[in-house]
Amino acid sequence: MSRLALVTGGMGGIGTAICRALADDGSRVVTTEFKEAVPPEEWLAQQQAAGYQFESVAMDVSSFEDAERAAGLIKERYGVPDILVNNAGITRDAQFKNMTAAQWRAVLGTNLDSVFNVTRQFINEMLAKGWGRIVNIASINGQKGQFGQANYSAAKAGVHGFTMALAQETARKGISVNTVSPGYTATPMVSAMRPEVLDKIVAQIPLGRLAHVDEIAAVVRFLCSDAASFVSGANIPVNGVQYTSH
Ligand code: CAA
Repeated sequence: MSRLALVTGGMGGIGTAICRALADDGSRVVTTEFKEAVPPEEWLAQQQAAGYQFESVAMDVSSFEDAERAAGLIKERYGVPDILVNNAGITRDAQFKNMTAAQWRAVLGTNLDSVFNVTRQFINEMLAKGWGRIVNIASINGQKGQFGQANYSAAKAGVHGFTMALAQETARKGISVNTVSPGYTATPMVSAMRPEVLDKIVAQIPLGRLAHVDEIAAVVRFLCSDAASFVSGANIPVNGVQYTSH
């Protein structure tokens, strides 16, 4: 059975791999676009050349009103998603003593408000269907904190609080809600770091390298499958042993 998957920020590094992994599993995939580094038509053409036919809708996930508008379009054109991956995210790194209110708000808006703004648009119809998968992409830095990321660490920790609460509300309705917390992954977001800072971080990863985007997407794919039906409210680390916990 073909399912409809919505992946926010699907044109980014991890997002692209998630779109492909869900398509490989038989889902029809819709992504959101907003201030993309690569023009959306170019990204869609690249995916098509690689054998993937994706749909895309413009959505500012940090705005409830814009998410509502875009969700209306998605429902009209494609239907209600069976799978929702809240993946869109940004960084605005700065030591807290220098962090501006704009940097705080941008990161909290895009990385945390977004999970409310987007999930709220679809949750009632997902509950009515009686089957659903919601995966929220957080970060190792939401679990352990990170120098220069008070905004990002707070937002990503908040994402898992959301996961744990919503998982309880949807457990008996066939909808699982999980968090995936990637470690440092080979993406444009991580490449934007100063090389000497990144080298020091890679030295702290027991696997001795960055994650590949497909290693994150494989976990998302599993959580979105029927096989993962008893996994909900969980936070799955995919971090090369950089941070371990009970
Ligand atoms: N712990 C303790 N001290 C640290 C430190 C750390 N982790 N990192 C830096 N410092 C110290 C430095 O040694 C330096 O000390 P001195 O002044 O005594 O030399 C001081 O703090 C200032 O450091 P910087 O020169 O780095 O400060 P800056 O203001 O120029 O830069 C920063 C700040 C941009 C935040 C930079 O530190 C940085 O890029 N840090 C890494 C942030 C990071 O990990 N971002 C992840 C982005 S990718 C992502 O977010 C994806 C994901 O989910 C993993």
